[in-house]
Amino acid sequence: MHIAIIMDGNGRWATRRKLPRTAGHREGAKTVDAVVEAAAHRGIQTLTLYAFSADNWQRPPAEVKALFVLLRRYLFTQTKRCVEQSIRINCIGRRDRLERGLLHAIEQSEQATARCTGMHLRIAVDYSSQYSLMEAARRIEGQREDDREHFLSVLNAVNHSSPAAPEVDFLVRTGGEKRLSDFLLWECAYAELHFEDCLWPDFGADAFNNALDEYARRNRRFGRVPAGPLARTSVRL
Ligand code: FPP
Repeated sequence: MHIAIIMDGNGRWATRRKLPRTAGHREGAKTVDAVVEAAAHRGIQTLTLYAFSADNWQRPPAEVKALFVLLRRYLFTQTKRCVEQSIRINCIGRRDRLERGLLHAIEQSEQATARCTGMHLRIAVDYSSQYSLMEAARRIEGQREDDREHFLSVLNAVNHSSPAAPEVDFLVRTGGEKRLSDFLLWECAYAELHFEDCLWPDFGADAFNNALDEYARRNRRFGRVPAGPLARTSVRL
């Protein structure tokens, strides 16, 4: 099972407390720890977290810097724990615009956890789904390949996803907004969507587990008719 999370609401969490926005991101990083732990505990195969979108470069430079410091710190402090829990860390997104220190931290964490066979934790950094789709389309241009699995594998390669990730089953967004914000647009084609009003720093293991329980009650049809009597209905033309 692949779960993707848009971790929204750090800024508002801080502003409501008259704190700088970066304090919200710091608090948000603690929620990341709790949710990663809960997801691994539930046996989730792939967890993709939206940490920094390509559009987030438009934020004030001090906020961008603070986010990268937090990411580096996360990678430095959590890699050992991930190895112990067999969680494979992987950053997806562009790498050509990242500062050298962050890139180094990413590569170190990826190498250190490369043999982990438990949960695949993907952290999206400088990520834009539209960019990835255009790049994947450019790479397959001229090929007569039209199967979706092949396109997904090219998309995974563009994103530096190692290993390749399957399509998303369940997408969670906190912070009350109901949009995808250029996140995993192809991969979410049949994802179940779940929107939480609570701000990301207020989200935690309990809220995550409740969301998963709600997912378990969903009826996924992938364009087919529901199972049961209706499934046998046929239309005479
Ligand atoms: C969106 O909230 C959140 C982000 C752009 C950054 C998410 C980063 C973290 C949760 C912490 C660092 C990540 C890791 C993986 C350690 P927002 O700032 O847009 O909030 P707002 O909508 O309330 O302004």
